[in-house]
Amino acid sequence: MTDTTSHDDLTESRIILGLMRITDMETADIRDLVAGALDAGINYFDHADVYGGTRHRCEERFGEAVSFTPSEREDVVIQSKVGLREGFWDFSREHILTTVDESLAALQLEHLDVLLLHRPDTLVEPEEVAAAFDELHAAGKVRHFGVSNHTPGQVDLLKKHVNQPLIINQVQLSITHAPMIAQGIAANMAGLDQSVVRDTGILDYSRLHGMTLQAWSPFQRGFFNGVFLGDREHHAELNDVIDELARQYDVPAEAIATAWITRHPARMQVVLGTTKLARVQASALGADLPLTREEWYRLFRAAGYELP
Ligand SMILES: NC(=O)c1ccc[n+]([C@@H]2O[C@H](COP(=O)([O-])OP(=O)(O)OC[C@H]3O[C@@H](n4cnc5c(N)ncnc54)[C@H](OP(=O)(O)O)[C@@H]3O)[C@@H](O)[C@H]2O)c1
Repeated sequence: MTDTTSHDDLTESRIILGLMRITDMETADIRDLVAGALDAGINYFDHADVYGGTRHRCEERFGEAVSFTPSEREDVVIQSKVGLREGFWDFSREHILTTVDESLAALQLEHLDVLLLHRPDTLVEPEEVAAAFDELHAAGKVRHFGVSNHTPGQVDLLKKHVNQPLIINQVQLSITHAPMIAQGIAANMAGLDQSVVRDTGILDYSRLHGMTLQAWSPFQRGFFNGVFLGDREHHAELNDVIDELARQYDVPAEAIATAWITRHPARMQVVLGTTKLARVQASALGADLPLTREEWYRLFRAAGYELP
């Protein structure tokens, strides 16, 4: 397995395979992708009820393609998310409970290892979330809980009511979209956009409170704007540095992009979205690659961020 992290009974690879883009793949290709990821040391698989166009479609595709023996099942971590609906967001008890049952049926599994609240529902009544989590936990349907795209204040509000630890916050993060890291580096500067606080301190909060950050879209330029690797129009300098380091470490460029995230001492995880096994294997090499401080900051500056 690649470098791991752990929460109680979970041993988790630092690299996660996200299944958001598998809708139109052949069943055999999904099976090969998952088997290849396992061979590459990845034991963590990320889903959501909304992935795939129609509800639970990607979970269904995964469930059709992949099955685990009881002992294999103990060694993998299956995560899904709840809370997004067509045109509104919903953290009501009823919606959480119904959705998890649907996800388990689609995945053909008895339990989820981790359930995340997908994006903050401002109409949340945290007592309802707490009730749903208690029922899911007591029924053995969900073992661990977390959030995605939540601010520290939103996490604290949930924590005031929820009985289980919130162990994960999954957020958008790549070298080219790193405001949660870049802001702290430029704290207290006048006239610098980078110094504007946009997330009320997710990075420091997560480290202080033992929440693991999971980086989604680790290769995307923006919000699904295409990958920055090889994109010389927008990121020529960054690609020069990535290519130089890739040659130096004798790894593919994907590994350098992954390593930039896993090198951070917050011990974040990287959620890959590729449907190509070769890219999964290339990316997984980054988890064990300890970039030096100087190399890490060089990549950061080449992506356009400043050290004021
Ligand atoms: N919590 C949230 O709000 C949230 C939001 C979005 C996503 N997610 C999770 O995060 C996962 C990853 O998101 P993402 O798919 O946007 O991430 P990504 O890994 O940054 O992007 C993957 C996409 O880039 C393409 N790609 C092209 N060249 C590539 C290269 N050299 N290396 C890697 N990919 C390349 C892939 O195509 P190929 O398939 O052809 O390789 C694929 O379409 C999703 O599967 C999902 O599980 C979570």
